[in-house]
Amino acid sequence: MTTLPTVELTVYAYECDAYGHLNHATALALLERARWESLARGPGIDLFHRNGVAPVVRKAAVDYRAPAFPGDALRVELSVAERGTTSWTVRHVATRANDAVVILEADVVLVCVDRAGRPTPFPEELVGVFGPRTTGAHPTRRVAIEGAELAVDVRGDGVAVLFVHGFPFDRTMWGAQLAGLTRCRRIAPDLRGVGDSRATRGEYSMARYAEDLVGVLDALEVRRAVVCGLSMGGYIAFELLRRHPDRVRALILCDTRASADAADARQRRDELAGLATREGPDAVGERLIPNLLAASTRADRPEVLEQCRAMGRRYTVAGMAGALEAMRDRVDSTDLLSKIAVPTLVMVGAEDPTSPPAVMKVMADAIPGARYVVIPGAGHLSPLEQPLTSSRAIADFLEGLPASTA
Ligand code: MLT
Repeated sequence: MTTLPTVELTVYAYECDAYGHLNHATALALLERARWESLARGPGIDLFHRNGVAPVVRKAAVDYRAPAFPGDALRVELSVAERGTTSWTVRHVATRANDAVVILEADVVLVCVDRAGRPTPFPEELVGVFGPRTTGAHPTRRVAIEGAELAVDVRGDGVAVLFVHGFPFDRTMWGAQLAGLTRCRRIAPDLRGVGDSRATRGEYSMARYAEDLVGVLDALEVRRAVVCGLSMGGYIAFELLRRHPDRVRALILCDTRASADAADARQRRDELAGLATREGPDAVGERLIPNLLAASTRADRPEVLEQCRAMGRRYTVAGMAGALEAMRDRVDSTDLLSKIAVPTLVMVGAEDPTSPPAVMKVMADAIPGARYVVIPGAGHLSPLEQPLTSSRAIADFLEGLPASTA
């Protein structure tokens, strides 16, 4: 259990009722004060504000054990009794400082919400303060494939959906979908050389990535999966479809493109690989990431930008240079589009600067029967920037899948 700084608060006369003891409604206010005071003494009273989120109380259970009187100094010990993806429970134990009599014990369940009041996964700094997940913790699977060991998050039952991250991101970009799409089996690997995956050999290509994904499906005994790829993840999805069409039940193409790199783009890949080698993956992340997000994400949700930077830092140099090489050398998939015979959702952030809606619409029009969805207020990372709208679009698509494609 993670403990938070203990605080001492004095009971004032105006907080007490006709019997002279602490009133139950003001006791709740006192617990609230204790939580803020504890933050002020620990990570800072602006912990939530500076991360673009806020705490809201969902439930409070108080067990009153003894009366407290004006002038009593109460020692309030606080700890995180439980932590989920978006909520946590703070246990409060208030004792009178001078005789250690327990006055009350309380469990308060709080939810982390974004500026629009929507539950949102804890930003990284809050994870550091409130500790690791205690509820429904899902151990990460490790799958060994051809010189690599891939870290894979696997959750739930139902239609298998394989989430393939983009560049320079990792599987944690799908956090909201892993938490929220509870009616399907969510599978999210880190590609080789990325995040918690290790690679001992230096082979990087779209073919290698696609075979790695097949290895993940085999290890999980999944015959066919809905493949949901963002940007580079989309390039890999095309390759998987070319090599193993029988493993793809449906496609979700987010913020990606079918065309190959033009000469200038190929040259930029080499420059970035050089930068990764000379200055480390962080330098590449710094160069690329800020421009990928929507203006509103940059202005209002600094925690998203921070999460993206953190993902970029989790690449090895070989993993980053390898991904750049694989993207540089990928083949053009434009001819493949008209041959796609599985249900397809094409989803794009309205402000995506690198695979803009106009490009994605042409792609969707070329895929027989494809559904096309634009996510407002999102740039290149719609599932992360607008998690609820993106997850809703994915859930609607999954619900509409014909049973015959099982
Ligand atoms: C990505 O998000 O995967 C990248 O934008 C892909 C690319 O650089 O082509």
